[in-house]
Amino acid sequence: MIPANKQHTCVFGLGWGDEGKGKVVDLLCPAFGAVVRFNGGANAGHTVCVAGKKFALHLLPAGVLHDAALGVIGPGVVVDPIALLSEIDELEARGVAVTGRLKISDRAHLVMPYHKLEDQLGERQVSDKARIGTTARGIGPCYADKMRRHAAFRFSDLADESGFDSRVRQVVGERKRLLDMVYDTEVDLDADKVLADMSTARARLKPCVCDTAALLHQLMDDGRTILFEGANGLLLDIDHGTYPFVTSSSTGPHGIGCGAGVSPLVVTRRIGVVKSYSTRVGSGPFMSELTDETGDRIREAGHEYGTTTGRPRRCGWFDAVACRYGVRLSAATDIALMHLDTLSGFDRVGICIGYRLNGETVDTLPADAACQSQLEPVMEYHSGWSEDLTAIRSFDELPATAVRYLERLESLIGAPITLVGVGPDRSQTLLRGDLTDLIDVPEPTNA
Ligand code: IMP
Repeated sequence: MIPANKQHTCVFGLGWGDEGKGKVVDLLCPAFGAVVRFNGGANAGHTVCVAGKKFALHLLPAGVLHDAALGVIGPGVVVDPIALLSEIDELEARGVAVTGRLKISDRAHLVMPYHKLEDQLGERQVSDKARIGTTARGIGPCYADKMRRHAAFRFSDLADESGFDSRVRQVVGERKRLLDMVYDTEVDLDADKVLADMSTARARLKPCVCDTAALLHQLMDDGRTILFEGANGLLLDIDHGTYPFVTSSSTGPHGIGCGAGVSPLVVTRRIGVVKSYSTRVGSGPFMSELTDETGDRIREAGHEYGTTTGRPRRCGWFDAVACRYGVRLSAATDIALMHLDTLSGFDRVGICIGYRLNGETVDTLPADAACQSQLEPVMEYHSGWSEDLTAIRSFDELPATAVRYLERLESLIGAPITLVGVGPDRSQTLLRGDLTDLIDVPEPTNA
């Protein structure tokens, strides 16, 4: 058994994003040499609360909030350099020095302005039912170009200034003609403006760009451990999520190989993060959704509004079938169950333990979105608890009904709950097992 402080670790979402990964990563950061993003882009939204200050991170790994850890953006991330610069500026204005400890892969692809336009226009074109509800950050179109190859740009391309500029002029011209024609509009896309922005990005980000896979292998050779930070969530995974209502990347530990250039086989600790209820933002099947006042009550109690878009999140009871699906896919070793405090005051708490489809009970997720949207949840209910959990600091202090709820979840999903969140602050975290060797939960701050 490898000791906790020697294990390369991945934190990833088991739901449709917004599970509270940022807080878990943030707690783990001090124990690691580098924190690595390996998938997605500025569609992700991590809210981290440090010393009473709230930080919303989209592209930057949470490691940048820690002096000791290096923040790494791996080759599998699609980076909007302008969004990245404004995120850096915002943090630096609040006293967090970022540039010195940020590394960006020279293989990471650039999200260009036409990718964002394509995201917005593409969504406008389709019916409400078919709309994916993207965050409009250009993620899907950028990954599509990456796969198509000839009109894609990576950070390494920025080095050859004149070659980059002439290729950008050509691609911007082609895209403008294409978008104008397909969407019968006049898109605001000007090659000079794009090149001016890219030139700023080149100058400011140059010191950060390097071969990050080589850097990570060097750190590992030197005995440092690496923390991989998954964005989005397994139910949004391009292959295994509720397709087509998903994002365009591999969101779990399986994405580390391609997205970071490190074998997932070396990542022996896999912490799946999930809320004690379910949420989803954007369209798509949501098997345990509550469209009644219980759902509204969860939304208000849990402040369930999007970090990236501000959209109200759809809310529902915990879906043990979907969670078990993610646990199996990722071989999760630990579960971090967040927002347990949000469920205080409910007379009863529900768990979805199966789905009913055409009169039959199923316990896996069918592939087809139309089938998924017809799934009816098979529910079981447990007594709730009235106690406020936000000041609790250990598992032993939890009310008996909350303990029974956790035990039932563990038996349904097949992995141990070793971390429980009882509030947004770092201090509001309960730990058990050898995670206690890895995480120092701070004292509460009143700042
Ligand atoms: P895209 O990744 O912007 O293309 O969005 C695709 C779908 O994934 C949409 O339903 C988004 O709302 C959802 N999504 C993408 N990233 C996140 C996230 O970090 N949290 C929650 N939903 C997300």
